[in-house]
Amino acid sequence: MSNLTAGMKIYLKIYDRMPGRRLVLAILPTLTIVLFIFFFLFSVRVKPPFIASTNNTITLRKAARFSLLIGILTWPNKYDRRHFLRLVYGIQSSPIADIDVKFVLCNLTNVEQRVFVGLEILRFNDIIILNCTENMNSGKTYTYFSSLPRIVSRPYDYVMKADDDVFLRLAPLALSLQPLPRLDLYYGFVIPCTSMNPFVHYMSGMGFVLSWDLVDWIGESNIPRNNTYGPEDRLVAEWLNMGSKAYNRFTSKPAMYDYPGTNGRCSHELIPGTVAVHRLKRWDQWLHVLHYFNITQEFEQSSLYKL
Ligand SMILES: *[C@@H]1O[C@H](CO)[C@@H](O)[C@H](O)[C@H]1NC(C)=O
Ligand SMILES: *[C@@H]1O[C@H](CO)[C@@H](O)[C@H](O)[C@H]1NC(C)=O
Ligand SMILES: *[C@@H]1O[C@H](CO)[C@@H](O)[C@H](O)[C@H]1NC(C)=O
Ligand SMILES: *[C@@H]1O[C@H](CO)[C@@H](O)[C@H](O)[C@H]1NC(C)=O
Ligand SMILES: *[C@@H]1O[C@H](CO)[C@@H](O)[C@H](O)[C@H]1NC(C)=O
Repeated sequence: MSNLTAGMKIYLKIYDRMPGRRLVLAILPTLTIVLFIFFFLFSVRVKPPFIASTNNTITLRKAARFSLLIGILTWPNKYDRRHFLRLVYGIQSSPIADIDVKFVLCNLTNVEQRVFVGLEILRFNDIIILNCTENMNSGKTYTYFSSLPRIVSRPYDYVMKADDDVFLRLAPLALSLQPLPRLDLYYGFVIPCTSMNPFVHYMSGMGFVLSWDLVDWIGESNIPRNNTYGPEDRLVAEWLNMGSKAYNRFTSKPAMYDYPGTNGRCSHELIPGTVAVHRLKRWDQWLHVLHYFNITQEFEQSSLYKL
């Protein structure tokens, strides 16, 4: 009690020593204003960013994270190639895109395929079986694109058709797609080899990307339906041109190319920013490419192995 009294006395003394009530009255409005500014700033600093961040996060996420389906067209009997490609793509990802890699087959034709491919489906669930007979230039690419809207559970932003002898680097691929339009887009390696104009010919079948609206269109339009026989990659450009589609076109050169020495001027040496290397027919070529891109560099050290 006496302590409190002493404290109050000191307080009163200080109060007494102040130059009077006027100053206090003068300070009070300033203090109020300062407090008001403080609260205002506080609310400005805290509240709107929360609202904005809720909205911005949604907007940013929409702008930054997009989805891509990569369909690798291959044959049922190429079991070894699929297992290898599962390794190659299973260890890759992109921070800016959700990427699904699927193997695209036509009808299975015998018991062996039904059992062995069936095992793969049960284990990996990464196979699409289309209603077609295996072929390269008799409409498989058409069946692929035109079936997708009916058979996938959700639309993707982009759909790619890729060969099984191409090495795709998923992070650079996603990075190159990120700034491009999500609609009416046709992306790839433009043919002829030396051309940089994506509006003249067509994108090589090694791997080209269509935005989902174009996939929808391929599924609905009579133009592709009536024109499915011929080199699959050239046909796609013909459809788009006949339908006045794909006003947005992008050629990913020099980041996409054929393996050095395999295809004239479509080939060049391996380069760091690579998106795709095509025509990998032999193991030594795959080895060269995977080694060059340091694909196994990220190993965690473990007592189980020494590399
Ligand atoms: C977020 O943005 C959308 C459109 O961009 C708008 O309709 C919505 O009202 C915004 N939400 C908030 C909480 O500001
Ligand atoms: C599959 O293709 C065949 C031959 O083109 C056709 O007769 C059949 O109706 C198709 N089946 C389905 C489920 O689309
Ligand atoms: C593919 O297989 C399904 C079911 O076995 C069959 O109905 C269809 O006609 C086959 N399609 C072709 C093009 O062979
Ligand atoms: C496609 O072919 C069908 C008949 O097979 C015809 O009726 C239709 O007009 C054709 N469409 C185009 C765009 O050529
Ligand atoms: C692979 O790793 C080596 C050594 O760390 C580095 O010099 C080289 O630039 C890397 N290559 C690529 C394509 O990132």
